[in-house]
Amino acid sequence: MKHIAWQDGLLDSVEKLCAVFPAVIKNRWKNRLVYNAEKIASYEESPAVTDEIFWRAAYEIFPGGYEPLILSKKDPERMRAEVAASKSQEDIEPGNEPLGITRWAHAPGHEAAAPSGMKILAVNSSMRKGGNTDLLIDEVVRACSDAGCTVEKLYLGDLDIRPCTGCRACRKGDVKTICTIKDAMTAMLYDKLYEVDGLIIGFPIYTARENAIMANFMDRWDCLSNPDLSRKMPTGKKGLVISTWMWPNPSAYDTVVEQMVILLRLHGVETSDVLTLSGTRGKRHGRGVVKNHPHILATAYSAGADFLKQLGSR
Ligand SMILES: Cc1cc2nc3c(=O)[nH]c(=O)nc-3n(C[C@H](O)[C@H](O)[C@H](O)COP(=O)(O)O)c2cc1C
Repeated sequence: MKHIAWQDGLLDSVEKLCAVFPAVIKNRWKNRLVYNAEKIASYEESPAVTDEIFWRAAYEIFPGGYEPLILSKKDPERMRAEVAASKSQEDIEPGNEPLGITRWAHAPGHEAAAPSGMKILAVNSSMRKGGNTDLLIDEVVRACSDAGCTVEKLYLGDLDIRPCTGCRACRKGDVKTICTIKDAMTAMLYDKLYEVDGLIIGFPIYTARENAIMANFMDRWDCLSNPDLSRKMPTGKKGLVISTWMWPNPSAYDTVVEQMVILLRLHGVETSDVLTLSGTRGKRHGRGVVKNHPHILATAYSAGADFLKQLGSR
């Protein structure tokens, strides 16, 4: 790549931005940032890396969870405003919460009839019953039940799901009989996963990733692959993923959600739609505030109805 110039003083911004990182990772991020900014400038035939290109590169390469760090350097005033908004969330009038719903899939192009008799399992890894993740799941579940499906909703936090011990006994045979952990997974959850046609997976973002209850649950799926990565579980299942978070950027944790979609694909579950809800601030730390926004609940209901059409088109 030819040498790309930088707008005067802009390399100082790289230093300033990367100063937020501990020394052990600082140079890694500096190199990625410089490389990506120059790549954009080169692609767009810009004579130099400009301020606008630099920040665009930062937004493109940093995971969404880093946004507060970026803002603290790019726009300290806005960052202060975000902190203040988070602190004063108990004052937000119901209905004024800064929620943003994003639905990743469009409605299926064909009008497949919603099949009845399908089996669906919905799991929620939030401990907040009646929280935002829960309320969105409920709307999807209601759409599926209204169309005659058998839907079961489970709170993962209520179940005895122990961490994978890494014994790898599961590598040698069928997980339902060979997993050495005797808990809710082996007692009934693996059976349910094998049996259902569709899965609804809901989780809140905690510390910039899926919450630990969901991560623990997904670790226990590892045994569903054979050592050659072939699958033990019947394939052809469809998935709908739901995630909620407090930070108001509607794409802040998309990479976390995408990771979940990939993980499900590795196990033969094809995610046909995703719902993400951002900005869950409000009274009681935003608990269940989505109920003040009927249009968002309606979006979740339609996603549930369309999910069924996807199941019908398998
Ligand atoms: C321990 C903890 C960590 C959190 N970390 C983040 C975070 O990194 N980013 C964010 O935007 N929200 C974070 N949140 C806020 C939740 O994602 C948000 O409140 C979510 O809507 C909760 O969903 P629920 O009500 O269904 O449990 C965190 C909440 C808790 C309790």
